[in-house]
Amino acid sequence: MKTYHKKAFSLSKSRRFLEPGPIVLVSSAWKKESNIMTMGWHMMMQFSPALFGCYIWDGNHSFEMIRRSKECVINVPTADLIDQVVSIGNTSGRDVDKFKRFKLTPVLGSEVNAPLIEECYANFECRLADSKLISKYGVFIWKVVKAHVATSPKYPETLHYRGDGVFMLAGRTINLRKKFKRKNL
Ligand SMILES: Cc1cc2nc3c(=O)[nH]c(=O)nc-3n(C[C@H](O)[C@H](O)[C@H](O)COP(=O)(O)O)c2cc1C
Repeated sequence: MKTYHKKAFSLSKSRRFLEPGPIVLVSSAWKKESNIMTMGWHMMMQFSPALFGCYIWDGNHSFEMIRRSKECVINVPTADLIDQVVSIGNTSGRDVDKFKRFKLTPVLGSEVNAPLIEECYANFECRLADSKLISKYGVFIWKVVKAHVATSPKYPETLHYRGDGVFMLAGRTINLRKKFKRKNL
């Protein structure tokens, strides 16, 4: 499996890798246990500080781990990890240690206790910013407090879920930067 050389990255630019709605792997830690879940339902909510919202079903083992620890890492996998992405979504941390089962490497973060997944292209360490929507909607609002992004390739082949077991792989990129209003870049 691939590993990446990463460097510190601008927090307010985290959205460049999160905004297009890639499938992400959410890692968590609570009381010496660590876990991973697959997630498609998320969105960027603010430029700076970078706020990120996501939905976590309360039946997931991750839900209580994340609610109690108030931390997580949002990891961005690429197409080479597609089998792990599906398997992680098909299994529960209640029954298996997913890092071991799916041969992924946990790496210590610098701001949170939840582990980063080394094999992912980017890792965003998050701390809970607002808990108001958790009990009603299962929506957690996070502040990205540290971002680790691979130096290459510039545009990773991320996975985008279309439902019903179908994924779209990120493909051709078109740069229309010159046509943009500065404030929208
Ligand atoms: C492609 C895909 C997208 C998913 N998106 C979400 C999501 O946005 N929110 C969620 O709560 N569960 C989502 N799931 C389901 C969880 O990943 C799944 O329930 C998992 O087993 C939870 O693991 P856990 O019990 O160890 O926390 C998704 C699964 C797949 C395969």
